[in-house]
Parts: sequence; C-alpha cells; structure tokens
Amino acid sequence: MNILLIGGGGREHALAWKMSQSPLCDNLWAAPGNPGVAQNAECVDISVDDTEAIIEFAKENSVDLVVIGPEDPLANGLGDAVREAGMLCFGPSALGARIESDKAYAKDLMRSAAVPTAEARVFTGLTAAKDYVLSREHGVVVKAAGLAKGKGVIVCPEPYQAVKPLEDMLLRNKFGEAGKTVLVEEMLIGPEASILALCDGKSIYPMEALQDHKPIGDGDTGLNTGGMGAYSPVPVVDRAAMDRIEEEILVPIVDAMRRDFGRYEGLLYAGLMFTNAGPKVIEFNCRFGDPECQPLMMRLKSDLVAMMVATAEHKLADINIEWDPRPAVCVVMSSGGYPGDYEKGFEITGIEEADAMDDVKVFHAGTAMDRGKLVNSGGRVLGVTAMGETIAQAKALAYQAVEKITWEGCYNRTDIADKAL
Ligand code: AMP
Ligand code: GLY
Repeated sequence: MNILLIGGGGREHALAWKMSQSPLCDNLWAAPGNPGVAQNAECVDISVDDTEAIIEFAKENSVDLVVIGPEDPLANGLGDAVREAGMLCFGPSALGARIESDKAYAKDLMRSAAVPTAEARVFTGLTAAKDYVLSREHGVVVKAAGLAKGKGVIVCPEPYQAVKPLEDMLLRNKFGEAGKTVLVEEMLIGPEASILALCDGKSIYPMEALQDHKPIGDGDTGLNTGGMGAYSPVPVVDRAAMDRIEEEILVPIVDAMRRDFGRYEGLLYAGLMFTNAGPKVIEFNCRFGDPECQPLMMRLKSDLVAMMVATAEHKLADINIEWDPRPAVCVVMSSGGYPGDYEKGFEITGIEEADAMDDVKVFHAGTAMDRGKLVNSGGRVLGVTAMGETIAQAKALAYQAVEKITWEGCYNRTDIADKAL
C-alpha cells in the first residue's frame, strides 16, 4: 500500500516507525514529518493545513491510505476531503473532530448520553463567569472551549484563582478564538488515565490504558503542557474498570455521535479521572495522544497498518490485536522555558547512543536539521521511550537513555510513572 501520514510531532514519529514495519506498507510519505519521521518515511514539505496540496500529492502518488495525526487538520475537514477523493482515511470527519475542537459541544453530547463527566457551565461574558466562580465553594477548572494545544486548561484549587485565567481568555484574548468561549468545570479528584479506542463506525476497540503527565513540573506542579511523559499499562485500569469505561463512556458517546451526525471513524481518546463515584470524562480527543502514542506503539505487537485499514473499512471486528505485556515509559525532553517562551536552534547530542540501547527508542517531536546538525525546534523535543519487565525497570531504562542526550537548556520531569510505583 501507499500511505501518507499527516503531521510532524512525536506521535507521528511513533506512528511512522510502527507503520514502516508493516508488510502491507510499500511506500510511506509524511507531510511535513520531522528528522525522526525521516528515518521511516519520505518527508514532503506540505503543511498539515494545506488540504488542497495534500489531496493533490495523494492523488499523484496513488496513495491508498491517509493517516491524520494532529487535531487541527481533522477539525478543518481533511478527513472528509480524503474520503471524498476516494481514498481510505484513518481519522474522523470534521463533525467527528468537534468532540475535541469544541469542548462546549462535547459537554452537551456527554450530557445527552448520560456519560459521566465533570459538571460544567459555559460562558462568553467575563462578568457572569467571574460571579459564578466566586460563588463556588470548591476548586474549579477553567478551559478554553477551542483547540489550545493542551495549554488552555487551568486547574484552580481555590475558586478565586480562576479570575485571572478567565480575564486572560475573555478579556485579554490570550487563546484567541479558542478562548472566546470558556467552560468552568468542577475540579475532580483522583488518578487519571487515557483510553485510546479504535472506532470503525460499528465496533469499538479500546487499546491498552496509559497515563499522561500534563503539568511541566515534578509532582504535577506548574503550568499544563501538551504532556511531559506517559506510561502503560496503568495499574488502576483493571479489567473491571475497562468494562465500565466501555459500557458507561465509549459505547454511549459513540452512539450519541451516530445520532448527531453519523459514524465516528478513527481514534477516539478519552481522558478520564477515577473519582470516588467512578470514572468521569475530562476530555475527548479525536486522535492519538502525544506522548501517549509513543509508549503505546512500543507495546503494540500487531500490524498497525492492518489495524488502520480495518478501521477505515469498518472491519475492526475481524482482526485480532496483540500487546506486549511488558510496560513502556516515555519521558519527554523539552526546550528550557516551555510551555512559555524558549530558545531554539541548539545542537542535540547523544540520540544515537540512547537509541542503540536495547528496548529503547527515541522519538523526535520538535527537532530540525540546521546546516547538517540536529537542533531543537519546538517545545517538546524528544520522547525517550523504554520497555522493561516492570514499570520501575522501564522507568529506570528510560532515564538512563535520557542521561545520554543533551542540548543547551534541555529539561525533563524526573518522576514519570512514579504514580504507578
Ligand atoms: P484536558 O486538556 O482537558 O485533559 O486537561 C488537562 C489536565 O487538566 C488534565 O489532564 C487534568 O489533569 C486537569 N483537569 C482537566 N479537567 C479537570 C477537572 N474537571 N478536574 C480536575 N482536573 C482536571
Ligand atoms: N497528551 C495529551 C494529548 O495528546 O492531548
């Protein structure tokens, strides 16, 4: 098959690495890719937003399957354009992507389907929003309703702390259009997990559970990021929890989407919190998580291309998917200063040495080539991922690999996976 992968982050490197191992994969291109993706695919210089150029390239190169990594092109309707052009697509339609791109819509859908989630109110006016938070007795969470790269969520254990983020969004336009509508949610308490499920419009296949680490600092302190590390499996998500998630969350939300607009096809990501009252949804995403995808791909034993084709052809029920029982841990190395401002262009050393270690894989996210040298070019730069017999061993190995890699200002959390230990 001829396959075109859209995106250029750590998630896409993990997908390209795994897809390129498939006997079904004859040619693999990535738009735009990155220097890590280039180890497994031919990178073409097309932006993820340029739907026209993507479709033209796919037609010229007889592409059979288009795999869409990030949320923006999905929200822009790239999935619809690919299907209209007669190609197989892994990724939902624009209407499906709304589950992520419009948090107010997602909340309404969850309410209509009685999916357990944090109570929320939606605001567009600052005064009403402030009055509301200041009337609350417990912690709240302020969320930009639109796409904000994981940074538009501010957890406020004391309600007054919500005033500044509300002003940032509704008065100072800090998140642009995405923050012109905000959700104020009750703050939930409990361990978190991410469940990534393949959905083909008929069947749902939840993959192995993962846990992300959103805040920048050790012990979950500081600002939220796109994710500073992830591991799998997650001890709190046992068989019984998984059954409950499927029954109370995944099946009803997919049914609600079918009633609302039709089939949801691709990957559905449920970010969950395990409260005293059971699992509750804190967000849905319409694509693989980043960095969750990196440890997930390390643990996947089956053919990813076959899984994606089965999803696109509504034949998920026909395939068998196998996992390596060994845990995987991914530690994200970021540029100093992220998620705030940071400097780019510093040379990165040590990746080859880390990559040469058994059971270690270094996935590139924000890297670029500059005059023959590999440099940092984004906030999250690398996803250093390792497997081990236990989570503790996988963690130790991942950090041994991190030790070998450096550039000026590089940063990483030191406690990824500790919650499972
Ligand atoms: P989100 O992007 O919606 O997943 O939010 C980012 C992070 O903020 C989550 O991973 C949680 O740690 C935290 N968070 C989001 N919503 C809530 C909530 N209702 N209660 C407590 N924490 C939350
Ligand atoms: N790591 C969380 C996300 O991809 O949204």
